[in-house]
Amino acid sequence: MSGAKTQSFATRAIHAGASSLDSSGALTPPVYMTSTFAFDSVEQGAARFAGEQEGHFYSRISNPTQELLEARLAALEEGQAALATASGMGAITSTLWSLLAPGDQIIADKTLYGCSFGYIQHGLRKFGVEVDFVDCTDLEALERALSAKTRVVYFETPVNPTMRLMDISALSRRVHDYNPAIKVVVDNTYCTPVLQQPLTLGADLVVHSATKYLGGHGDLIAGAVVGDEETLQQIRLFGLKDMTGAVIAPLTAFLVLRGLKTLELRMERHSASAMQLAEQLSEHQQIERVYYPGLPSSPFFALAQQQMRLPGGMIAFELKGGLAAGGVFMNRLKMIKRAVSLGDAETLCQHPASMTHSTYTPEERAQHGISEGLIRLSVGLEAAEDIYRDLEQALAGG
Ligand SMILES: Cc1ncc(COP(=O)(O)O)c(C=O)c1O
Repeated sequence: MSGAKTQSFATRAIHAGASSLDSSGALTPPVYMTSTFAFDSVEQGAARFAGEQEGHFYSRISNPTQELLEARLAALEEGQAALATASGMGAITSTLWSLLAPGDQIIADKTLYGCSFGYIQHGLRKFGVEVDFVDCTDLEALERALSAKTRVVYFETPVNPTMRLMDISALSRRVHDYNPAIKVVVDNTYCTPVLQQPLTLGADLVVHSATKYLGGHGDLIAGAVVGDEETLQQIRLFGLKDMTGAVIAPLTAFLVLRGLKTLELRMERHSASAMQLAEQLSEHQQIERVYYPGLPSSPFFALAQQQMRLPGGMIAFELKGGLAAGGVFMNRLKMIKRAVSLGDAETLCQHPASMTHSTYTPEERAQHGISEGLIRLSVGLEAAEDIYRDLEQALAGG
């Protein structure tokens, strides 16, 4: 990772950590398709298991291809260390299982990706963790919820799917003033480190679904956690090794490394197209409301300008005519795919209430601010004019 601090983002995305695997001169790193690693002696094996000697021993804990991806992700998020996992949910569960015990409290923002909500609401509660969902844009409400039992404050920004933004600096300061030991964990999937680096803004850990923009091509499932060395070691040796077993496959790690090389370019294109489409959609007569932090009309515009390099590739909107009109619109789409996930080259459109956020009951969705008619658009890398043409013809059917 030499030069990681001085090199620009685009350079780090291509080179950081590369020196460890390039002994043959191969331009692209080898994929270490191995489950285990042979020891020179029984003493060496024992020392590796005891953590007294560096080196791999079993690919559920670490593997050279995974290690390279981790070095690169740590450099991009400006963390000390990273852990790559089999999925975003693998990263989130490995992290939270490691940080929480029965009787501890987690405070999470009131709106989260559906499976993160399901895991916290049902999974963590089932094992005796106290769970409080709070509107984390309201720092007074957050402070009132903090207690001697709080171990983790967890949120996404922008929130999936409602596009609310949390002020990472102000929130982290408030939490750490109360108790510096509380871990502020940010899901940075929507932004990637190109747009926002939560660790540099005061958060303790970043989690990712690398399935999305980091991989970038809709051909893999992966995740990551980035943060300080000591906590990452705890997550690797407990959360990952003993609790979830959610290790990333070496070939998947290779594909994420390949995706990272174009991450900055892709994020710039996703953002530029999304900005254009958000403006066009907000002027369309069939659209009730557009949620996008790059629009000056957004209540989060000022915060986006301060915290995000670009407003990103995700848009949410509501149609006049609500849920029924939304269904007609989605069924009329031609080029744009009706599909969950996000961050791919293809533009994807989905209905959170019946798809990604169906883990909430209708009552929970109402309480947590997810309206039944909301539509989510992951703006792809096609020409913005072609994306808009498809949206426009689909809207014409309403
Ligand atoms: C914001 C966010 N976090 C986490 C996840 C979970 O990631 P994965 O599907 O890779 O497990 C998703 C998936 O959609 C997501 O949108």
